[in-house]
Amino acid sequence: MRKRIVAGNWKMNKTYEEALSLVSEIDNMVKDEVNGDVTVIVAPPFPFLQSVGKLTQGNDLMHLAAQNVSEHDSGAYTGEVSASMLKSVGVQYVIIGHSERRMYHHEDAQALYKKLKATIAQGMTPIFCCGEPLEERDADRHFEYVGKQLHDSLSYLSNEEFDKVVIAYEPIWAIGTGRTASSQQAQEMHAYIREQLSRMFDAEAAFNCSILYGGSCNPGNAKELFAQPDVDGGLIGGASLKSRDFTDIIKSF
Ligand code: PGA
Repeated sequence: MRKRIVAGNWKMNKTYEEALSLVSEIDNMVKDEVNGDVTVIVAPPFPFLQSVGKLTQGNDLMHLAAQNVSEHDSGAYTGEVSASMLKSVGVQYVIIGHSERRMYHHEDAQALYKKLKATIAQGMTPIFCCGEPLEERDADRHFEYVGKQLHDSLSYLSNEEFDKVVIAYEPIWAIGTGRTASSQQAQEMHAYIREQLSRMFDAEAAFNCSILYGGSCNPGNAKELFAQPDVDGGLIGGASLKSRDFTDIIKSF
């Protein structure tokens, strides 16, 4: 069965103290209010991973993600963090190919493929992000654009490797802009993504793959988005920095 997932991508926000209080609040609210079959993920900045992970250890619903990983295993790569390092501090999920990393850090399809491999090799789950810029949507090339992103990084994975992958569809024009994709736009892209996956991998694996929506998701629009048959949850930026909003989004299933 497909997992229902809500993941909070904290991006480059919060100091250590602020991160610990945010995660404690989320942890308490989830314990008190969420009784369901949902995987909650928080993705704090690298320096806070271990401490945040320790705080959520007793809560089976809560899981820990990193926002990035090196494509290399170890060695002279100043400033980079490897998959085995992440694994060793309790990380279970890794966000790969976020549009901000593609744009500002020039991560290309081949590098993302290597990051996927490195993450899966350590037994962690990649959350692979895709999504089109506004020009592509306006030119009606969004399906083609996202299809190519999927093909260029994922198609070299084996069926067994693909089994571990979670996808996040995040149209760039909706990230941090307050402009959300409509539930219909999200559903049609998610269905398209699932169909592409079923061409690259076996149909059952594609059916079971969780596909999250991201881009200005908030407590007001999550319910309608999550009600779509191919939307299996959300990757949340801004609203994941407020414990009340994030928990309300989790409760929107
Ligand atoms: P947003 O970010 O919810 O602030 O739009 C989503 C993301 O970039 O993952």
